[in-house]
Amino acid sequence: MKIIDGRSLAKEIKSELKRETQKFIKQGGKTPHLAAVLVGDDGASQAYVRNKIKSCERVGFESTLIKKKSTIQEDELLEIVDGLNKNEDIDGFIVQLPLPDHIDESKVTLAIDPVKDVDGFHPMNLGRMVIGLPCYIPATPLGMITMMERYNIKTEGKNVVVLGRSNIVGTPISILLSQKTKWGNATVTLCHSRTKDLVSEVQRADIIIAAIGIPRFVTSDMVKEGAVVIDVGINRIDAPDTKKGYKLVGDVDFDEVAAKASYITPVPGGVGQMTVTSLLMNTLKAARGEIY
Ligand code: GUN
Repeated sequence: MKIIDGRSLAKEIKSELKRETQKFIKQGGKTPHLAAVLVGDDGASQAYVRNKIKSCERVGFESTLIKKKSTIQEDELLEIVDGLNKNEDIDGFIVQLPLPDHIDESKVTLAIDPVKDVDGFHPMNLGRMVIGLPCYIPATPLGMITMMERYNIKTEGKNVVVLGRSNIVGTPISILLSQKTKWGNATVTLCHSRTKDLVSEVQRADIIIAAIGIPRFVTSDMVKEGAVVIDVGINRIDAPDTKKGYKLVGDVDFDEVAAKASYITPVPGGVGQMTVTSLLMNTLKAARGEIY
């Protein structure tokens, strides 16, 4: 069994991005600039955004953080989005999700100029992805693909089972892995809450992608010997004996499953680390005008 080290891979990719960015600037390109909009005071969202901003510094990007109270009205948020769309110095931006209940997330996502949508959440980017046109691939799926490529994990002809059909993880990764590309050519089964015999679906998988948000859902009895296990879950569970009072666990019971898997991603230190590097990769593409 091999642990896929997201932390060191992310570090390696950030060094590469830093070098590429320096080269781009030397050749007359502008310093890539990412903006992030954070609404409210959700602890996890704050931590993610902080990490995104800090990572920009590491690779030599400019960054702008726009923080707003959870009481912000939808109109005001849409105006901020419009301002970022028009701001020529900003190459790409994200609006951290989830948003408060009184704000329509789809409306906000649709308001983002697809050219600056480095999260790849706008239907224009998702649609382009589906038909194989240049686009921003959502950060988590891009992170997983990059991880598998760098670890030389072959997908061609493999049975992949994806658990969870979210718009930002399960659905896009299942499309990407079934496409006729160097990272695709897999046979993909997308499982969800209405799947009939989920356990036997997972048992057939050569590659399991767990993205359902249920702590330690995937147990060793569900995993075929030698399977590749990619854990996208980041779940907070109570841990009264720790300083923070909680700890992070994935959607996979790591200790049990690791013994059976050929490759496995840990939580933390796995896919989550790659998500930020993917966002940086997309931002550099935006600054270079590579997609549109
Ligand atoms: N919330 C959880 N993941 C993400 C992400 O990748 N982008 C944004 N904008 N919000 C998120």
